[in-house]
Amino acid sequence: MSTLVVVGIQWGDEGKGKVVDLLAREADIIARFQGGSNAGHTLVVGGKKTIVRLIPSGVLHDDKVCVIGNGVVVDPQVLIEELDTLQQQGRLLDPALLKISETAHVIMPYHQAIDVARERLRGEGRLGTTGRGIGPAYEDKMARVGIRFVDFLDDQVFQEQLSRNLQEKNLYLGEILKEQALDYTQIFDSYRRFRDRLAPHVTNASRYLHQEIVKGRKVLFEGAQGTMLDVDHGTYPYVTSSNTVSGAVCSGAGIAPQHIHGVIGISKAYTTRVGSGPFPTELFGPEGEKLRRDGGEFGTVTGRPRRCGWLDAVVARTAVRLNGVTSLALTKIDVLSGLPTVRICTGYAYQGQQYDEVPASVHVIDRITPVYEDLPGWSEPLSDIRSLDALPLNARRYVERVEQLVNVPIKMVSVGAGREETILIRPTFF
Ligand code: GDP
Ligand code: IMO
Ligand code: MG
Repeated sequence: MSTLVVVGIQWGDEGKGKVVDLLAREADIIARFQGGSNAGHTLVVGGKKTIVRLIPSGVLHDDKVCVIGNGVVVDPQVLIEELDTLQQQGRLLDPALLKISETAHVIMPYHQAIDVARERLRGEGRLGTTGRGIGPAYEDKMARVGIRFVDFLDDQVFQEQLSRNLQEKNLYLGEILKEQALDYTQIFDSYRRFRDRLAPHVTNASRYLHQEIVKGRKVLFEGAQGTMLDVDHGTYPYVTSSNTVSGAVCSGAGIAPQHIHGVIGISKAYTTRVGSGPFPTELFGPEGEKLRRDGGEFGTVTGRPRRCGWLDAVVARTAVRLNGVTSLALTKIDVLSGLPTVRICTGYAYQGQQYDEVPASVHVIDRITPVYEDLPGWSEPLSDIRSLDALPLNARRYVERVEQLVNVPIKMVSVGAGREETILIRPTFF
């Protein structure tokens, strides 16, 4: 098997960064295919924490090629900051190690201004976006007024597109959103510097990936966000603006469906969500507090406290079907230590009806009653454990029950943030 897709099967922050970093050992190329700097993926290696937002999570391994696919919306300033930090650590010094698709779209200052202003105007009804301009950038892509890297590299084309867009955006910002207009020269000058810095990385990434896959090189596709944040299949409108499911690899990296050979779904042993929207298993009392505290559940990008709740097998089941998940990684099970009882939601009940998958209407999801199964907890810390057999009996039963409910083999259980704090049930993944 030469390609593997890693996707979050909840509402994001499942630990994709940690898992991709670990799997990247076996890969030659690691590619992002959607999302943007709304993502925050945490890697902990040798006790040192690194957070990546646009650069794929394989970057801490020498000589792996990192690819930012066409489906990603790229904030050039964020990417350059990330690149600077990594280069200071001696990484990505060869430009060939980071490739940016020439057809990826560029996030502009007006995207972020619009995102933030809209959220402010929505007040209590806000979506709780990360405020990084993600939605407005994808809107422009679909409206066919987005600026792609290939256009960005051409001074004249870029000038024309920026001036056309800015006229319209300044009207919208001023008249509708009551914001300050943005200055053309300031944007143009700063973006020209960004362009000069990033130009050596821009290439036909779709063709590159195809050629490498055909040669048998191993490619890991790294998802951002999670399935319940998918713009089509998530809890719309409380979602992000891209398709986060594994199928998005084809459009977002520009590769053909027959080149997807496996899909690993990442799930926490409980559930978290940042931002607004329905969350059936959310906990509001001391148990939720415990998960937030012990799990360090504060947003990687925005620092917001994450909402916490029990594992939801209805969500997992829906996501496994949508993504074609072939194996599962269960993360953060160490955080459950110390709870006398651990609950798993196995179904939803609403007006006499039972749901085994997530219903489409957020109004229905808001009103359903979760059906729980209670399992006995365990008190032992798990972070030093490296095999399933060494887990306390109740923790092992929990893992086995999740596997049964979701009906996919669990190949990895993560017991801590560090790369080595992992129980590898199957030694290889490709
Ligand atoms: P991502 O967006 O899916 O990559 O996840 P984030 O990095 O945003 O959030 C996951 C958080 O949990 C990070 O702080 C990780 O370092 C941490 N983490 C990952 N796996 C584990 C684990 O098994 N146990 C614990 N305690 N922390 C973990
Ligand atoms: P990673 O890749 C968790 C959420 C936001 C908000 C909604 C829309 O680290 O898992 P957006 O800025 O995308 O328009 O916000 O999506 N969101 C995430 N939640 N993890 C993420 O990424 C997220 N990226 C966006 O909180 O609810
Ligand atoms: Mg994250």
